[in-house]
Amino acid sequence: MTLISNEMLLKYELRSPEKLPVKIWPDSVEASKHIARSIALAIQRKQQEGEQLVLGLATGSSPIGIYKELIRIHQEEGLSFANVVTFNLDEYYPISPQAEQSYVRFMHEYLFDHIDIDPANIHIPDGTLALEDVNNYCESFEQKVRQAGGIDIQLLGIGRTGHIGFNEPGSRQDSITRLVRLDRITRHDAIREFIDAEAVPYRAITMGISTIMQADTIYLMAWGQHKADILRRTVEGGISTSVPATFLQDHPNVQVVVDQAAADGLTRYQTPWLVGMCNWTEELSTKAVIWLSNKVNKPILKLTDSDYNENHLSELIIEYSTSYDLNIKVHNRLQGTITGWPGGKPKADDSRRPERATPAKKRVLLFSPHPDDDVISMGGTFLRLVEQGHEVHVAYQTSGNIAVHDHDALRFVEFVQEFGQQIPGASPEMKAWLEETQVSLQERDDTSSEDARTLAIKGLIRRGEARAGARFCGLPDEQIHFLDLPFYETGSTRKSPVSQSDVDITKELLTQIKPHQVFAAGDLADPHGTHRVCLNVVFDALKQLKSESWIKDCWLWLYRGAWHEWAIHEIEMAVPLSPLEVHKKRKAIFMHQSQKDRPPFPGEDEREFWQRAEDRNRATAVAYRELGLVEYEAIEAFRRWKF
Ligand code: F6R
Repeated sequence: MTLISNEMLLKYELRSPEKLPVKIWPDSVEASKHIARSIALAIQRKQQEGEQLVLGLATGSSPIGIYKELIRIHQEEGLSFANVVTFNLDEYYPISPQAEQSYVRFMHEYLFDHIDIDPANIHIPDGTLALEDVNNYCESFEQKVRQAGGIDIQLLGIGRTGHIGFNEPGSRQDSITRLVRLDRITRHDAIREFIDAEAVPYRAITMGISTIMQADTIYLMAWGQHKADILRRTVEGGISTSVPATFLQDHPNVQVVVDQAAADGLTRYQTPWLVGMCNWTEELSTKAVIWLSNKVNKPILKLTDSDYNENHLSELIIEYSTSYDLNIKVHNRLQGTITGWPGGKPKADDSRRPERATPAKKRVLLFSPHPDDDVISMGGTFLRLVEQGHEVHVAYQTSGNIAVHDHDALRFVEFVQEFGQQIPGASPEMKAWLEETQVSLQERDDTSSEDARTLAIKGLIRRGEARAGARFCGLPDEQIHFLDLPFYETGSTRKSPVSQSDVDITKELLTQIKPHQVFAAGDLADPHGTHRVCLNVVFDALKQLKSESWIKDCWLWLYRGAWHEWAIHEIEMAVPLSPLEVHKKRKAIFMHQSQKDRPPFPGEDEREFWQRAEDRNRATAVAYRELGLVEYEAIEAFRRWKF
């Protein structure tokens, strides 16, 4: 790499489109600990001065790690919150404080119940007021913030609409605490908590932009790939009411704290050659060439020196001497990712293939976070691995029991009831059990919590579907494993933290199978986070088993879940599917009847899972073709994780 001169550094500064200071951490846990530590120090400093610290707090998934760390500091290091006053950003309206989704309940559950804060110092907008009292209430909320001396440290998450608090697009810079309407996208995202779309409130009480902007210090957090796009618009876009978080660009003391996945959308990662000097690794060169090919709409082998020079990539050619050499190199690299032998091609030269040729018959363990991710994300590869004679095992990591509609569960209960009437001597206990379950399913509205029996039925429904899908792909029953990881079994969308027992269950299966290949969901964009947690469990299990002799022969391949695909430059194995294989894969997905049409947690996408899978796999094939590679019907993509 060429040395960077001062002049070039200056050029970097000038070309950087970032208008807010961004601190990037490898993961949200580390980032959250850092913010929590800063808050703890600020509390202690105020204590020494005999003063109060005023905290502005947020809810949602983003601040949970910070609260967890603050609780740890309180419990293990004795930090007192006696001098802390809090103001929460917002609350749904109307909502009862007891409702599972209320922010009052959230704050108590995740923070207040575990620290020594004086309850009189807690302020959370009141979602129970009569409409005519809301204006006065908001005015008094503002007054209380002022009386407390203003907010010292404000925590903010960011919504996909760019909202901070519930200041949705259209909010004014001078807005104060008030009643607002929630944006359609925000309501959609809230379905994961309310389950029933109709139950999501239309309104909320929120601190205004101006209230937030008066805080001394602001931390804006964003974790995960699904925040990457809005983060880029916030950090790099102009100030605009259509992305209210951009108003923060006018604040003198904001820190944007993000994990790598959320940062990935920033220009410095997406197209770093547009910002400044690059360290041209093989992956970055591939990325740049793919970008250029898409930009000028030419296959890679047709790119010319002037295409590179005219698009800020002259440096890259210098690195590789000519565009001709570079084009061939990248083209061959991509070509080498394509294989119809996902378990390795026996007796073939494997020096340029994604998988090893030996052993010819591999033991393969495919982890599926939910019961249908295996077929949705890698159904075609699954079918091939079995057909090519590998010993394939599938492990369903969670029961997926919360994602079955009550009316579907009721059908199964009534089936067993009616079938039971035909069995002579069916026990009265069983009859009573079924009757009670039937009543509870009939009476439950979609937002009330589930009891153990309905969850058991729903879990069994999904188990049967998973079994049918795996059998369709050719697996014998003894190679189908249900892990029912405990972290998932809360009966609601809020999951327990991962514990060693989740990891132990996973380790036990790995030790039993000693796989040569492990496939797992490397999905950072899962809106429920379950995929991410399941991946961490696999990582932890493999890490803890690293001294086992078989581990050195074990390769970990990551597929992406139903929401995103790997970027082309990230793909290390591309498995092409014929039209017939696409059709077979669709049939495997159809085995998951409870997830068809409109499952309880559809995410933001209106398409059914099989449609998303096919669109995604076809899009990858089109992307390969446009780069000048062979044309296929569809492609499933994987990335190897070196652990
Ligand atoms: C919550 C709040 C919202 C959230 C935002 C991000 O009090 O004010 O602005 O911070 O919707 O939510 P999560 O963190 O769940 O992605």
